[in-house]
Amino acid sequence: MKRLLFGIGVLAAASQVGCERDVSQPNLEYAPDMYGSVPYDSYAPNPNTRDGKTLMAPAPGSIPRGYSPLHYGPGTEEAMRASTELKNPFEASEPVLARGKVAFNRYCSHCHGSGGLGDGLVAARFPRPPSLLAEHALGLADGQLFHIISHGQGLMPAHGSQVAQEDRWKIVHYIRSLQSPTRTARKDTP
Ligand code: HEC
Repeated sequence: MKRLLFGIGVLAAASQVGCERDVSQPNLEYAPDMYGSVPYDSYAPNPNTRDGKTLMAPAPGSIPRGYSPLHYGPGTEEAMRASTELKNPFEASEPVLARGKVAFNRYCSHCHGSGGLGDGLVAARFPRPPSLLAEHALGLADGQLFHIISHGQGLMPAHGSQVAQEDRWKIVHYIRSLQSPTRTARKDTP
C-alpha cells in the first residue's frame, strides 16, 4: 500500500512538472529514434555521396526493371523505321486479343469508335480520325501501328505514357482482328 501511494505521489509530481514546464523549450523526448530517423532523409544533404545529395540520380544508361527502352523518336521517318525493325512479340491468342480489346476500348474507342471506323463520341467535336479499316490503315505495318500509338501522329496525341508497351502490341493485334473481315474481303476480291 505504501508503495502504491508512493507511486501515485511520483506520478502526481511528474504531471505537475509537465504542466508547469516552459513552453518555449522543446518537450522531453522519450526514445527519440522513433520520430527522428537515424538514416539520412531522402532530400537531405549527404556528406558521403559524390554530389552531396542523399537521393542519387541513376547512373547514365540505367534501365528500370521490367522496362524495355524504345529507341524511336516521333515522326513519319521514325515510324517507317519502326515498321521494318519492330515485330509484335505476341501471338494473336485469345487472351491477347481479349486484353487488346479492353485496352482499345479504354484508350482509343472514344475517338476511333469501338469498331475502329472513326466514329467515337469525341469525333463529333474533334477532327474525325480516319477509319482503321480503310485501305491506308490496312497498309500500315505492325511496327508502324505501334509507333503511332506510342508517339501519336498529326492530330492524334501520343499514348506511350498511358498505355503499357505490352498493351500497345495487344491493341495492334486487336486492330488486325477488326480489320480481318476487310482484309479477307480484299483477298477474296479478284
Ligand atoms: C483524341 C482522339 C484520339 C485518340 C484517343 C486516339 N486517336 Fe488515333 N488518331 C486520331 C486522329 C485525329 C488521327 C489522324 C491523325 C492525323 O494523321 O492527323 C489518328 C490516327 C491514328 C492512326 C493512323 C491511321 C491512318 O490511317 O493513318 C492509327 C493507327 C491510330 N490513330 C490508332 C490509335 C490507337 C490504337 C489509339 C488508342 C491507343 C488511338 N489511335 C487513340 C485520334 C485519336
